Amino acid sequence: MKPGQHFTSRRSFLLTGLAVGAGTVGAVLFENEVSAFAGATSSGLTPGDAAILRFLAAAEILETDLWQQYNELGGIQDSEVPGGSGSAPFTAALQVLDSDMDQYIHDNTEDEFTHFTFINAYLASKGKETINLDRFRTLPSSKATGAQQIGRLTNLMQLAVDTSWWTRYRSRTKNPDFGDTFAQAVPGLSSGQFPAIPRHDGDLSPKDHLQAIANTAGFHFAFIEQGGTSLYPSLAQRVTHPEVLRILLSIGPTETQHFQTWQDKAGNAPPLTDPTNGLVFPDLNSPPFGGEDFQTNLIMPEPTVFLNRKFPVCSIIRPTETHGAAMGAVKALTANGLFIGQPPAFFALLHDLAEAADAARHGS
Ligand SMILES: [Fe+2]
Ligand SMILES: [Fe+2]
Repeated sequence: MKPGQHFTSRRSFLLTGLAVGAGTVGAVLFENEVSAFAGATSSGLTPGDAAILRFLAAAEILETDLWQQYNELGGIQDSEVPGGSGSAPFTAALQVLDSDMDQYIHDNTEDEFTHFTFINAYLASKGKETINLDRFRTLPSSKATGAQQIGRLTNLMQLAVDTSWWTRYRSRTKNPDFGDTFAQAVPGLSSGQFPAIPRHDGDLSPKDHLQAIANTAGFHFAFIEQGGTSLYPSLAQRVTHPEVLRILLSIGPTETQHFQTWQDKAGNAPPLTDPTNGLVFPDLNSPPFGGEDFQTNLIMPEPTVFLNRKFPVCSIIRPTETHGAAMGAVKALTANGLFIGQPPAFFALLHDLAEAADAARHGS
């Protein structure tokens, strides 16, 4: 899509008064909509529904924090997603993957703000406890020109990015819900600690080092969003109230839209070796890669086995197993290195929220 087109549609959305800045969305909801919610639904939330929504609110706050860091350096700076002042060299390196990367980063960031703000507002409207992680905003910001100097919840400077989503969505015979495992698209990236944003202005060169950081970000974007793509349908199987189901079924597919976009862009990451640390981004269309499991233009899910191998293959989100889904998300984000530097109390809180969400059952 051309930047101008997208910008125009964003502007007209803005003019409707719905997206009046991330910080005010919650207030608007409270003033105008909460009484309507209350009238529309007579019964309250079950403890399980509240636990699932609280876990999702926490996950969305964490997502927002990382997306905001990306936006400050590589996205579009405006009143919808305020904060940074941008890094022209990093933005240009990201645009090697797609000329609209800055717009997409901006829009993904704004979406995450609305996700946690909405879920918290909904919980409050039902008299339930909301989620606030501000006491854990202690991790350092990037020192690169363009980033705000504030405390962060997530660390984008020491990532190990699991890139097996790439082969998982290209396999016609395997499904993680059957215990199947998947090869890494970028093996080096899955087993190290690599920056996904410039840590300081020294990271802006040499050229292939900065491009490796942008490539890392490109694969990380899809890693994050495929996680949300699975998390919502996995947890939806445990909710009770039809309106809570509606919330999960309405937010979840936006994560899938994000994932689909990022999967397409990651395929444009140029093959290279980072001269500073040896990280290799392979040519995914060439041996030993290539073929159905790696081919970069297979950006829609290949049909695969679902529920039982006796059924015909089906094009699906994967995984969607509900058992342990919330704890699985916490483990994946922790293994990603996003929380390096957070204290034990942070992990204890995430663990408790995930455990409560995973204990929820439809009808209780
Ligand atoms: Fe989200
Ligand atoms: Fe997301």
